[in-house]
Amino acid sequence: MGRITVSVIKADIGSLAGHHVVPDEIKEVAKKSLERAASRGEIIDYYVTNCGDDLELIMTHRRGEDSPEIHELAFKTFKECEKKAKELKLYAAGQDILSDAFSGNLRGMGPGFAELEFEERPADPVVVFMADKTEPGAFNLPLFKVFADPFNTAGLVIDPKMHSGFEFEVLDVVEGKSVILKCPEEMYDLLALIGTTGRYIIRRVYSKSGIPAAAVSTTRLSLIAGRYVGKDDPVAVVRAQAGLPAVGEILEAFAFPHMVAGWMRGSHYGPLMPVSEQDAKCTRFDGPPRVVALGFQVSDGKLLGPADLFNDPAFNRARELCNLIADYMRRHGPFMPHRLGPDEMEYTTLPSVLEKLKDRFR
Ligand code: F6R
Ligand code: MG
Ligand code: MG
Repeated sequence: MGRITVSVIKADIGSLAGHHVVPDEIKEVAKKSLERAASRGEIIDYYVTNCGDDLELIMTHRRGEDSPEIHELAFKTFKECEKKAKELKLYAAGQDILSDAFSGNLRGMGPGFAELEFEERPADPVVVFMADKTEPGAFNLPLFKVFADPFNTAGLVIDPKMHSGFEFEVLDVVEGKSVILKCPEEMYDLLALIGTTGRYIIRRVYSKSGIPAAAVSTTRLSLIAGRYVGKDDPVAVVRAQAGLPAVGEILEAFAFPHMVAGWMRGSHYGPLMPVSEQDAKCTRFDGPPRVVALGFQVSDGKLLGPADLFNDPAFNRARELCNLIADYMRRHGPFMPHRLGPDEMEYTTLPSVLEKLKDRFR
């Protein structure tokens, strides 16, 4: 037991046939790199997977959050994968590696990461969420429901250990500042912020006694690079049970497929579809945006699992609803509110169209 850190670090290194899926060859390179790190004792355990075109490294270790060694390990692993992706001439090989010079932390370098350090409990269930074709604010609504909505999470009402509520750290990605808001006391203030999903992002959640309960990646590539480089397909780590929301309460928030920004060219709203690892590939109109949930038991730092939690007929209705919403939204074609507003679009021809037409405006 003792203190353990779960680090989920991801990057889009390139895809087979467009931007839709990481091929097995790339995951093999990543597995070998993390296997070597485990045999050297740098990490305790790992699991490599993908959500759409994003390669996901799930690791446990005792080096804490923001560890230079762990970030460097992920960076070197991504660089090896990038090399392989270039050899294979994958599409958009090395997309999220914005810089070659590693200087101690992945912040501002392209890859996204969510890390949670905690005292391992006698039994410690963790759920790792990974999404593709959307942005970190996509987790605002479900995390609010998990930790603050009594109609989602029964424990907020009937479990004495959860009845006092949770604290949310909200990051303003434009100002680079964060604020902590208590729920239920400051629920309306919290909602006033996090409804603006492109700017105010739930970064962490704590119990009122200070136990870390959830962490979300908050990288905004376009703010780093100053140009379109893809949406920042997010990841999150959520701890469950025994005074924290039950796994079922955590998953319940995803039974409602809410609308998120992303999808085709990072410029469209669409429903977030909960899927199995197998179905984590963004096909129709490069989507619809998807989310995978993997459940682990953290056991002396080892990762038992995963359980592929959305691989369950109980989520069929959510997926059917997603397909219905996708049909409805797609029929808007280039019109808002399917297409994002002009400030949020990742691809745009508007300036050049306006320039061309400027003398014709009367
Ligand atoms: C969105 C995404 C894809 C691409 C689209 C165009 O995050 O990855 O929808 O934006 O396939 O890609 P390019 O410009 O590479 O042809
Ligand atoms: Mg891509
Ligand atoms: Mg992606």
